[in-house]
Amino acid sequence: MPQFNPIGVFDSGVGGLTVLKSLRELFTAENFIYLGDTANVPYGGKSKETISRLVNSHINFFKEQKVKALVLACNTASTLIGELQDPGFPILGVIAPGARAASKATQNKRVGVIATPATIKSGVYTKELLSCDPSINVIPVAGTMLVPLAEDGWIEDPITNLIVQRYCNVFLKQEIDTLILGCTHYPILKSSFTRIFGNSFNLIESGPAVCADVIKLISSEAIPANPISKPGTLVVTITDSSQEQFTRTMSRILIGQDFPEVIVL
Ligand code: DGL
Repeated sequence: MPQFNPIGVFDSGVGGLTVLKSLRELFTAENFIYLGDTANVPYGGKSKETISRLVNSHINFFKEQKVKALVLACNTASTLIGELQDPGFPILGVIAPGARAASKATQNKRVGVIATPATIKSGVYTKELLSCDPSINVIPVAGTMLVPLAEDGWIEDPITNLIVQRYCNVFLKQEIDTLILGCTHYPILKSSFTRIFGNSFNLIESGPAVCADVIKLISSEAIPANPISKPGTLVVTITDSSQEQFTRTMSRILIGQDFPEVIVL
């Protein structure tokens, strides 16, 4: 597998850019190709069969792009890890690393998970958290209305604050000390969560968590690292032709990083 081949990053929409940001901060010499399936977002209310069909078809795109590894920067897609086609390169999901990070962070063993309805319904977070530490009490909540707010860029908006507060009341009541933002769109709305929990609360995000697994992949030589002589490149693709809102939200997420023109597939 040539070292210059890109690492693929996939999400249903803009959310995976929060993961891409962390990856680019850490792996500055790697080339990345991002695909946001904006024609089909949101995935979170769809059936397992539909999500599986969509993700498998996008894995074919990454095969054509000859990626050396694929990060499923989408929790909803990551619930299917192990059930997807084997494309001949490693596929990393974000749920197991997020659960590991949360199990290390919690002191009182009360962990909240807010994620899409499909992710919550799959029960994968609960399973992963309990396999890290069977004494953890998991409090799962489906944040059904949050993805459209993030896609639309309703950041630091009073309406978003109210909706997030409503979802989080149960976490406050249950006295959790750690909350997994179990959808990669939710860090876009992070300020609404920190208003409730404060800045020093354990908010676990998929991006930093999955970076640990990419480090492992490279250091075990499962994939070759790009030489650090020059900065890596980035290609951003989406599946729907209306790219204005995507580009606007991307510029807010990738603040401080260069990003290219968005390509519509
Ligand atoms: N960003 C995705 C996730 O992490 C999916 C959101 C959606 O399309 O519903 O779950």
